[in-house]
Amino acid sequence: MADDNQKNVFKNVLANLIRKKNPDEFLEQSKESKLKKTLGAFDLLILGISAIIGAGIFVMIGSAVVGTNEHVGAGPALVISIALVGIACIFPALCYAEFASMIPVSGSAYIYTFATMGELPAWMMGWILMLEYAIGTIAVAASWTGYLVQFLKGFSFLPDCVKNPPAWLIMDYSSAVNAGANVPHVLGIPISMNLPAMFIITVIAIVLFKGMQESANFAKLMVFVKLLVIGLFIAVGFYHIEPSNWQPFIPFGAKGVLIGAFVMFYAYIGFDAISTAAEETKNPQKNLPIGLIGSLIVCSIFYCLVTIVLTGMVPMDKIDLQAPIAHAMSFAGVGGKGLDIIQGIICVGALAGLTSVLIVLQYGTTRILYAMARDGFLPPVLKKIHPKFNTPWVITILSTLLILIGSLFMNKDVAAELAIFGTFASFIIVCIGILILRKTEPDRPRPFKVPCCPWFPILGILFCSIFMLSALTEVKTSAALFPLWIVVGVVIYFLYGYKSNRREVAAKLKLIEEEQPKKVPTENV
Ligand code: ALA
Repeated sequence: MADDNQKNVFKNVLANLIRKKNPDEFLEQSKESKLKKTLGAFDLLILGISAIIGAGIFVMIGSAVVGTNEHVGAGPALVISIALVGIACIFPALCYAEFASMIPVSGSAYIYTFATMGELPAWMMGWILMLEYAIGTIAVAASWTGYLVQFLKGFSFLPDCVKNPPAWLIMDYSSAVNAGANVPHVLGIPISMNLPAMFIITVIAIVLFKGMQESANFAKLMVFVKLLVIGLFIAVGFYHIEPSNWQPFIPFGAKGVLIGAFVMFYAYIGFDAISTAAEETKNPQKNLPIGLIGSLIVCSIFYCLVTIVLTGMVPMDKIDLQAPIAHAMSFAGVGGKGLDIIQGIICVGALAGLTSVLIVLQYGTTRILYAMARDGFLPPVLKKIHPKFNTPWVITILSTLLILIGSLFMNKDVAAELAIFGTFASFIIVCIGILILRKTEPDRPRPFKVPCCPWFPILGILFCSIFMLSALTEVKTSAALFPLWIVVGVVIYFLYGYKSNRREVAAKLKLIEEEQPKKVPTENV
């Protein structure tokens, strides 16, 4: 008897963990949202580029070529790594396109997982997406500081403390200690913070608090600025290539190329943001894949050219790790005397590019958390919408505070690597989701279908797994923190999410029961 009871409880819990939300429920929600279908392929292309080009190409490229104290670099062969990652991203991009055209609602991979795998996987997906969006924000904001400092160096009239600020004001604690800085202590507590990064995170949070409209237009402008600046770097740098810098081409062999691919994957993160606009897209079956694949192709071309020029201009041991693209201009000019003006312009473009990525990442953080709060995974207070600005203001404030606290402790490379692990994991889950839904709901209308299914989703899973596994033994800190993040996520789910979801489901059932008797007399009349 007791055994039977135990079995039933176990069965119940299991059924709850894999309780799926029907895609039609999301579609109903999207009908209520009254969003206008105004976006075409070009708009999606801009949105994708706005989210993709940022810290990856302006900053991470340095450590991907040279390596860090934890991993080797790819050297000039990074161009091969970039091409490999670009190809690898096409498969998950197609899966995103199928999902987004089938369930065109905001919430992205979190929603797709709820529809295909159930409650616990959906919670875990939302939790993992926080690595991509919230922790990713820390890496991009720290990169923003690098370019700001490089930019300010160009103004000779500024006081020295502004041109060369102390490390403890522009770095998290561990980076400042690694840089050999003299970190001050107050009451025995070391004081070190990346002040410019905290400033830009706060400014963007204020913009998002007041509404997205202005920031969308601002993001468009930023895209043009960053593409122009990258074009300028390629055009000027091309004339200062020294082919001997490409020797040796693959200094650390296949291992270096694979680690380079892992690190440069950061440069591709963000194209999935296009899928969040599915609800507002005209003709999604045509425009979504064009936007997703188109932005991947455009960015890959830019990334390859930048890599070829950077590694051709600057000897490997002289590549700067904070602002490599701007710094490379000190190797240009007549007799290699440097081009200060171009360096300044590149800094401005990089700051603009990084700002546009920050907008997308911080916006994504709030909207995914909002979707999770709406589903009962987070306390109801987080669902609050501001009466005047129509934005999820509690979540915006809370997530910004958590990101700011995180930026005190986490260095740029570890934050970026964690975001990479999180994104690989989410891509793998989305590819698996496509395979599941093709089996469970083969007849559901799919305006866009991944070609060559199941092979393309399987290739997506394989590529992402290989890159992820190849880095495990190299990037030790983040490889240890990633499973820890997963465990913390599972614990929070069982301590809070599981129970609050039961309350949410019970409340919905009660509402349905209460509505039923009311309806009967009306129908009789
Ligand atoms: N792909 C984005 C960047 O490089 C996250 O900053």
